[in-house]
Amino acid sequence: MCGIIGYTGRRPAGPIVIEGLKRLEYRGYDSAGIALLDRGHELYVVKVAGKLDNLDARIEGTMPPAVSGIGHTRWATHGVPSEANAHPMLDPSGRVAVVHNGIVENFEALRERFYERGERFASDTDTEVIAHLLAEQLAAGVDLAEAMRLVTHELAGAHAILAICRDEPDRLVAARVGNAGGLVIGYGEGEHFVSSDLAALLPHTSRVAFLDPGEIADVRAESVRYVDAAGRPVDKTPELQPYDPVAAVKGRYKHFMLKEIHEQPDAVLDALRGRYVPDPPRVELERFPLAPERIRALRRVVLVGMGTSLHAAMVGRHYIERLARIPAEADNAAEFRYRAPVLDAQTLVISVAQSGETVDTLSAMDEARRAGCPQVTICNTPGSQATRVADAALFIRVGPEIAVASTKTLAGSMVVLHALALYLGRVRGTLDPARGAAQVEAALHLPSAIGETLLLEPRIEQVATRFAHYADFLYLGRGVSYPMALEGALKLKEVAYIHAEGYPAAEMKHGPIALIDERMPTVAIALDDGLRDKMRSTIEELKARRGPVIALVTEGDHSLDGVADEVIALPRVDPLLTPLVTVVVMQLLAYHIAVQRGCDVDQPRNLAKTVTVE
Ligand code: AGP
Repeated sequence: MCGIIGYTGRRPAGPIVIEGLKRLEYRGYDSAGIALLDRGHELYVVKVAGKLDNLDARIEGTMPPAVSGIGHTRWATHGVPSEANAHPMLDPSGRVAVVHNGIVENFEALRERFYERGERFASDTDTEVIAHLLAEQLAAGVDLAEAMRLVTHELAGAHAILAICRDEPDRLVAARVGNAGGLVIGYGEGEHFVSSDLAALLPHTSRVAFLDPGEIADVRAESVRYVDAAGRPVDKTPELQPYDPVAAVKGRYKHFMLKEIHEQPDAVLDALRGRYVPDPPRVELERFPLAPERIRALRRVVLVGMGTSLHAAMVGRHYIERLARIPAEADNAAEFRYRAPVLDAQTLVISVAQSGETVDTLSAMDEARRAGCPQVTICNTPGSQATRVADAALFIRVGPEIAVASTKTLAGSMVVLHALALYLGRVRGTLDPARGAAQVEAALHLPSAIGETLLLEPRIEQVATRFAHYADFLYLGRGVSYPMALEGALKLKEVAYIHAEGYPAAEMKHGPIALIDERMPTVAIALDDGLRDKMRSTIEELKARRGPVIALVTEGDHSLDGVADEVIALPRVDPLLTPLVTVVVMQLLAYHIAVQRGCDVDQPRNLAKTVTVE
């Protein structure tokens, strides 16, 4: 959730830390802060509530020529978003400054120890106790890196921590505890960086090393030393990571969300590229971890993810069952993890994750690893934790997604799941070759179909204008369209702050239809996917109860003209692939309603892009 950045080296640290925070703001924007050190051992700390603009305004013209610094953008867990609760946290003597991502689950017990000594706390956060603990070790004469290691043994929960100390201005110490909150070290010439996100470092360096759970990094301008949780030295060789700076800027679009929606034809092409081969039509998968005999022995597939990635997993379930004929289920990763799931070596676990750092998904993956399941992760972030836990990663390859609301990564992950299902079906001999070939050809048509769907934007904006004032919405779909109904409702909630619920359409008669009157509009997915006539009956039932209906139909289908209040006609694609065009309408509708309501589309309230706490 929170974003962390640190720098030590020969350039002024302040501007580098601030610029790094700008790349991290999507992770949390409840508050922000920096701590800088110059060689005179002065600690300069500025913290503000709210977004980075507030920090920029506060520091203007006041930053010292620091040799090292740390910064933080916060997504609040303990303590309201306020200046006092903003990081960095200091110990009472102002000797150490700490930024942190995670939850110190035993912070109250730890605080007691300091209360008994008469020490006071300046914030309501769990993090502040880490600064006290570090200062306690330093006062006992312990070296800073060793102090950090000892402190990590006192903390319950999973953490990423970065600290500086007034006594040693040229040094940063970073720690990773448990699964949540990855940290990456960037290697420059006479300088080093630390961050929660690879993307914040790549403008400076592509040579990076990732901290593994339990490790401590002792970072100076000229060197980085690592130890494990027991204090044993760890050898790490930095690896090279590619970066596309063009993909990280907003360009001509008003919001990153809109840019990323419009990138989907190219994003889907990138996800297809090299996997869907037209002649003869087939799917090739890079580095698949299971030998053909183990694929044939699979008895079950479990797909896990959270939020939008869970919706991708739900579509993936249809693909695996229908194309590979393997029993499949899709599960909310957090529920899966705590349910004592029954797993074995014949269960393939597929995790879906844009960030690869979502703690609930990582914990589900741990559960699967303990049970000996083979694992594949479908992920957009090279080097992320998910890609290192899984036996293999199938990268979504859609480029950085900056807006908090996921858009192009959903489209990309559905494509990769479709490819995976075709591959499994071919290897197991359960997919009819002609059907497989037709699916490949249909998938290759997706970039142009998504491009055509984007041309509907003016029409969707019109519909958004008509419906922007409603307080509640229902989204209905069946089959592969049901996860898209859930996604439509999620998008509307998160960017437009409108209450919305997604249902499988047949569920309406079992309760929700009681909600329907003229104030409850429904977005009904009625594409030509084999269930269209059943959807039509549901729409008639809604209209009979005066519910306004926005119907999504396949172009050329006029059966709902004059029945639904608004009809949006989408290009025809293969019935299994309809989510790839439906999702574009869901995204644009939520986006334009949010813009009309004046919402902060790219950074919706209370959210963060990467959820690294439970
Ligand atoms: C939706 O727009 C959100 N970005 C959110 O639901 C997201 O999909 C979820 O937090 C999972 O993130 P992940 O894909 O990085 O694991």
